[in-house]
Amino acid sequence: MNILSIIKSPISAELEDFVQLFDSSLDSSNILLKRVITHIRQRNGKMMRPMLVLLVAKLCGNVSRQTYHAAVALELLHTASLVHDDVVDESSERRGQLSVNAVFNNKVAVLAGDYLLATALVQVGQTRNHDIIDVVSALGQNLAEGELLQLSNVSNLEFSEAVYFDVIRKKTAVLFAACTKAGALSAGATDEMVESARLFGEYIGLCFQIKDDIFDYYESKEIGKPTGNDMHEGKLTLPVLYALNSTRNEEACAWAVKVKNGTANADEIGRLVQFTKENGGIEYAAKVMDDYRQKAFALLPEGTDSEVRQALEAYLNYVVEREK
Ligand code: IPE
Ligand code: IPE
Ligand code: MG
Ligand code: MG
Repeated sequence: MNILSIIKSPISAELEDFVQLFDSSLDSSNILLKRVITHIRQRNGKMMRPMLVLLVAKLCGNVSRQTYHAAVALELLHTASLVHDDVVDESSERRGQLSVNAVFNNKVAVLAGDYLLATALVQVGQTRNHDIIDVVSALGQNLAEGELLQLSNVSNLEFSEAVYFDVIRKKTAVLFAACTKAGALSAGATDEMVESARLFGEYIGLCFQIKDDIFDYYESKEIGKPTGNDMHEGKLTLPVLYALNSTRNEEACAWAVKVKNGTANADEIGRLVQFTKENGGIEYAAKVMDDYRQKAFALLPEGTDSEVRQALEAYLNYVVEREK
């Protein structure tokens, strides 16, 4: 069985129900909104977040009505953040097709993203579970804070790993942590289980973003969105931060400062990418990611060798080893 089938096999029926609820949640009579939604639905994402909600709920008990509403809310919030992200990053490609801002324009993308976000809140309200509602509301704040922190860090000329981790924890890992926490809450797990589920999700999210950042150092058509963008946006991610801090190479630091103040040209960015690869930046980031994977493994309850546990292990391996 391939890795995705192992992940999906304990929740295949539930995933179908999820997709139905997701689609029916987005039924607007506004013609422009309908066109945007049709465009978005044309290409599904990998559905990493809803799969995680469903699997954790199964691990902690069973998938309930609350689980589905939480999963839909979280995938909607994720989708909203991508629609807005492509405006902020001025990116014209997403999921192997044109981004919403590219097909329509920035105004439509901002407003449609707001609609998706509001729909996420409607869905989480349907859980009627205050703890889950708290998780999702706090999440919206965190995601926005993460993006703002990333934006203000562009002009910070230190090459700080601590700030990098703060950004990725807020913009990505909290979403995965919300998925695992909401999944556990929806299954009526004990406080202790809920907390270890939350931490498990946070570690997955850190792995996920580090992997995503590594992709940016390579060219690939598989990924479905542009690579090589981060430095063009003034962002220095874990591989280059390590290469800079461990060598303190003057020439490379000068290129990095130019990346940060937006004056680096394509040639300088290419050299900095090359420098990162030659100085162990990718291996370092891969090692950090692997450490988080091990920490996450250690949180899975012992003594259970169920299909669900195997699926969660496969999920973790997929996050770290995926090609897109
Ligand atoms: C993209 O997430 C945003 C990041 C956190 C890097 P995914 O790669 O899960 O996006 P889709 O939903 O599969 O398109
Ligand atoms: C993804 O951030 C969006 C969020 C995490 C909210 P990035 O800008 O780093 O990711 P991609 O590469 O566009 O998916
Ligand atoms: Mg971004
Ligand atoms: Mg982006």
